[in-house]
Amino acid sequence: MNPIKVGLLGIGTVGSGTFNVLKRNQEEIRRRAGRGIEIAVVADLNTERARELTGGTVDVVSDANDVVTRPDIDIVVELIGGYGIARELVLKAIENGKHVVTANKALLAVHGNEIFEAARKKGVIVAFEAAVAGGIPIIKALREGLTANRIQWIAGIINGTTNFILSEMRDKGLDFETVLKEAQQLGYAEADPTFDIEGIDAAHKVTLMSAIAFGMPVQFDRAHVEGITKLSAIDIKYAEELGYRIKLLGITRRREDGVELRVHPTLVPASRLIANVEGAMNAVLVQGDAVGATLYYGKGAGAEPTASAVIADLVDVTRLHTADPNHRVPHLAFQPDELSNVPVLPIEEVTSSYYLRMRVSDETGVLAEITRILAEAGISIDAMLQKESREGEPQTDIIILTHLTREKQVNAAIRSIEALQTVLSPVTRLRMEELN
Ligand code: NDP
Ligand code: HSE
Repeated sequence: MNPIKVGLLGIGTVGSGTFNVLKRNQEEIRRRAGRGIEIAVVADLNTERARELTGGTVDVVSDANDVVTRPDIDIVVELIGGYGIARELVLKAIENGKHVVTANKALLAVHGNEIFEAARKKGVIVAFEAAVAGGIPIIKALREGLTANRIQWIAGIINGTTNFILSEMRDKGLDFETVLKEAQQLGYAEADPTFDIEGIDAAHKVTLMSAIAFGMPVQFDRAHVEGITKLSAIDIKYAEELGYRIKLLGITRRREDGVELRVHPTLVPASRLIANVEGAMNAVLVQGDAVGATLYYGKGAGAEPTASAVIADLVDVTRLHTADPNHRVPHLAFQPDELSNVPVLPIEEVTSSYYLRMRVSDETGVLAEITRILAEAGISIDAMLQKESREGEPQTDIIILTHLTREKQVNAAIRSIEALQTVLSPVTRLRMEELN
């Protein structure tokens, strides 16, 4: 059988990884797919570099529109990134009857509903394994491997840059800015790392997992997003003393009244496997009602790890190319007419445990006043740490860990605590997850 023909849009980090792995393992991949997979054309703004990378073996064009309309192309692989030109090209490829493989989580988290609907109408596949946690086959696991389960929650370290920064801050006691520069030098962080450090990249990814896990449309605009820019080294240190590590987690949880969808720095017990995922590695913990907890670990970024996921999609599409569209795995795991309108809950309705740190005057009765406010708000204390005040400085840090409580109750209590004259700083509030 003739090879299936692929048009590659963008031959940057992931595009070149995809080209190289496909070339290196082509015989093994052909045996799995049932026919060869051939990149016939590459579009990139830098045609000279593209020709160099491909060694003159494929057509190279500068205008990606020439690829998505080319009659001999069966699959378009979009590896440009962003929501602008990538959206136009993906929709145009679909309109022209091409299957699409993409690693673009930003595009799908924001425009996924439109893109999946266009693909459904046209009977083509949009595959996106590489969009979440790079080389880890988490989309496949959620959509197929765990299909028997009512998924209860997912918690993931799904941004390598921020995990690297947090690991370095904890291990070496370095400050945020220093480690961010190191992450950029090592190539983990983007040139403009805002999406990484502000939690937006992780929110794109958890949004996609949430839709697949709970059978609902993609709802990035409802996600609560906090990055790590406001996290201070002292909280990482105190968390450690209390037996916790701070991780930037993407969390989505099914509740009676809706779904939680959030990204924020989170205290996790140091004894959990996921708390020990260090450096730029990713890990996703999924709790299903039948299987229990399952954990997926690996490289969430990089040329070849991400190419591994892109090519897995290419093989899937090649196998399913001629299948009746109704017999394919639905884009969001649930049949499109079975997606539900379950609401994403506002952050004030989230239930969590909390870490509260405050600077107080070191005098009699301060602690009693704080615990009274918490008790009156119905918030139960799990643990407490009071630091010794330094000589000549009648101030100290108090850290309180609470049991599970509704976020709005904690916020109200914090307002009352901050109004006390003996409380000398705003209260630092971090969420905690037991993940058991
Ligand atoms: P790069 O910036 O390395 O590559 C993008 C490539 O697309 C560049 O070569 C760029 O050319 C080219 N390009 C830009 N605009 C156009 C256009 N209009 N037409 C044709 N080519 C164009 O990005 P990555 O490879 O890192 O990322 C690609 C996608 O994969 C993104 O969606 C990203 O989020 C996702 N992803 C990336 C991972 C990673 O580890 N890097 C991991 C998981 C997902 P030029 O350089 O000349 O501008
Ligand atoms: N910038 C992303 C990260 C790349 O650090 O995880 C992978 O999506």
